[in-house]
Amino acid sequence: MNNIKNYISEHKDRFLNELIELLKIPSVSADSAFEKDVRKTADQVKLSLEKAGCDLVEMCETDGYPIVYGEKIIDPALPTILVYGHYDVQPADPIELWTSGPFEPVIKKTDKHPEGAIFARGACDDKGQMYMHVKALEFMTSTNQLPCNVKFMIEGEEEVGSVNLGVFVKNNQEKLKNDVILISDTGMIANDIPSITTGLRGLSYVEVEVTGPNRDLHSGLYGGAVANPINVLTKMIASLHDEKNQITIPGFYDGVEDLSREERDEMAKAPFSLENYKKALDIDAVYGEEGYTTNERNAIRPTLDVNGIWGGYTGEGAKTVIASKAYAKISMRLVPNQDWESITELFTKHFLSIAPAGVTVKVTPHHGGQGYVTPTNSIGYKAASMAYNETFGKKPIPQRSGGSIPIVALFEEELKSKTILMGFGLDSDAIHSPNEHFGVFNYLKGIETIPLFYKYFTELSK
Ligand code: BES
Ligand code: MN
Ligand code: MN
Repeated sequence: MNNIKNYISEHKDRFLNELIELLKIPSVSADSAFEKDVRKTADQVKLSLEKAGCDLVEMCETDGYPIVYGEKIIDPALPTILVYGHYDVQPADPIELWTSGPFEPVIKKTDKHPEGAIFARGACDDKGQMYMHVKALEFMTSTNQLPCNVKFMIEGEEEVGSVNLGVFVKNNQEKLKNDVILISDTGMIANDIPSITTGLRGLSYVEVEVTGPNRDLHSGLYGGAVANPINVLTKMIASLHDEKNQITIPGFYDGVEDLSREERDEMAKAPFSLENYKKALDIDAVYGEEGYTTNERNAIRPTLDVNGIWGGYTGEGAKTVIASKAYAKISMRLVPNQDWESITELFTKHFLSIAPAGVTVKVTPHHGGQGYVTPTNSIGYKAASMAYNETFGKKPIPQRSGGSIPIVALFEEELKSKTILMGFGLDSDAIHSPNEHFGVFNYLKGIETIPLFYKYFTELSK
């Protein structure tokens, strides 16, 4: 690709400003109070694809938020890359912990980003990473160097489970036909240690409700004589892990692949400092399943975590009360071969079976999705590896991630193509947390690397 470095340095300020404008719109998909803003963001994305050179851009309405579809087909005989990303973001709260407004983007320097990082909700997940693809397309079309066909599919419901995208994909197989899917919605090891994500975990998310007496009771008059739903719920939850920190749900580990010693040794070669890891989180020890390293615990092993728990009195001061109900939200991260719907069933059956007399228990499944692994010997992986090698001056390390993008497994099932996960975020970028940010270096490096993927993928496809 000629002149990509020059093009980027010439247009750098505009690239940053355009992203900043996009980040100012609070496209929180989980909260209906932001509906107008979510739709406004979709309009903005549509406009940006038109400007970047797509021949056709459509706003595809769904039962929820629209999917922005764009394409530029230069020759049906050439390969087609399908780019996926999302324009919705996580809620910003707790807002008081942000050092600047979540929707007032500013560039600040950090330890990991001495050249500066854009602070805003969605900066890294995923507006910043999605927009790298728009700017990469702009570069290729405006310099006449687009080597193949491209399709864009940018959705607004990723953070709430991509339910309507699943339907859209099933109903639009022909329109979405492609040779490879390209996504930047994950991370890499460090700015000087490039890596390509080769795996994502699956997910099963459930909510549980424990009901005891028909009303809140005086904890003196009734305490000790009836089941306290909060005591019961916490005891039930505690029993879901054994002393080795393994999950006790019968059948939970059926199908979980045991990686060979060789594969584990290979994984362990990725640079990692336990000391720095603990320091970054202000913890004195890591915690997890016996017999596995930290990297293994959050990449190749399934987990069960309470994400929220509530019930009873949580206001100021003390109120002596036995609550009638207690609740928790629980997520299970899954590995490939664990079917999320079967896991949800196993959880439900087990959780109901451990309820003591005196309470009733309800389990409500939320969303979920399958895990994913992609081989490192595919044309797509090789093309990505060559692209990183050129822009970072180093061969990228394949790495399985602990996060989930449930729709990726569905893409493979429905569209029969593999996804390449070219993520440019860092774990320290605080996605889903207060003070989310995305390095200016990472943003520009992404814009530089993506066109090379197009080039090498087209060449290797011949
Ligand atoms: N982009 C993230 C997933 C991610 C981040 C994967 C970093 C790997 C590395 C995505 O937006 C996300 O947050 N996914 C959710 C699941 C979804 C169903 C809400 C997740 O992983 O919790
Ligand atoms: Mn994301
Ligand atoms: Mn996310």
